[in-house]
Amino acid sequence: MFKVVNKRYLANNIWLVDVEAPNVAKSCLPGQFVIVRLDDKAERVPLTICDYDREKETITLVYQSVGASTKRMEKEDDNGYKDVVGPLGQPSELCLMPKEELAKEKILFMAGGVGTAPVYPQVKWLKENGYEADVIVGARTKDLLILEEEMKQWATNLYIATDDGSYGFKGNVNDCLKDLLANHGKEYTRVVAIGPMIMMKFVCLTTKELGIPTIVSMNPIMVDGTGMCGACRLSVGDKIKFACVDGPEFDGHLINFDEAMNRQRMYKTEEGRKILKVQE
Ligand code: FES
Repeated sequence: MFKVVNKRYLANNIWLVDVEAPNVAKSCLPGQFVIVRLDDKAERVPLTICDYDREKETITLVYQSVGASTKRMEKEDDNGYKDVVGPLGQPSELCLMPKEELAKEKILFMAGGVGTAPVYPQVKWLKENGYEADVIVGARTKDLLILEEEMKQWATNLYIATDDGSYGFKGNVNDCLKDLLANHGKEYTRVVAIGPMIMMKFVCLTTKELGIPTIVSMNPIMVDGTGMCGACRLSVGDKIKFACVDGPEFDGHLINFDEAMNRQRMYKTEEGRKILKVQE
């Protein structure tokens, strides 16, 4: 078993767990994910690595208990996981960039909801390696924000945006970006947006217009995370890609978001049936 050494409720059915996983902790990089399974009969759940401690040999995972499998995890993962497989997927493009190129970038991360978790290790990695990055974290309301204190330690500037204006900037992350550019003299050469698909779609429409290259993470559409189920198939420009094998990060300006969201909706119907079964 892979022991859960710490478990903490963040907000909005979102849980953070530190799991002993020495091999993953040794070699993972920001952007990669693992597949966890509670027991032999449990579904495989792909989760992005939110943090790692190479000395303590732990990784930090964040999940929102919204589906049948994650609801089971919420109740039962204090006992640990039968499997933690990884690191899987490609590391974040930023971690692989030549140093001289990365040093020239003015990076802005835009995180929405549970998407704040995969943004966190990238911001931390950049700071630890001597690079700066601004971060916007968005939520519908103040109570739904996660990882604000953690993010503050590593972000050069942290901006909070809430739809209802209960905390920070009033508006969504996209409005906040426009405000930073128009009213605060900010300039960015690269955006990394991770959050709900609809958020990433609209961020990409804005940044395309502004000519700012944008990376998005397509982890929301992954199901088994192995390249076999086909649920994460994507049109990226004129190419077909699999989020779990080729990504999860892609050039957001090339993604066909409407097609990806339709695929996600199809899966949700299956997931809905499963939840009903669990509740019966
Ligand atoms: Fe199943 Fe990628 S998640 S093929």
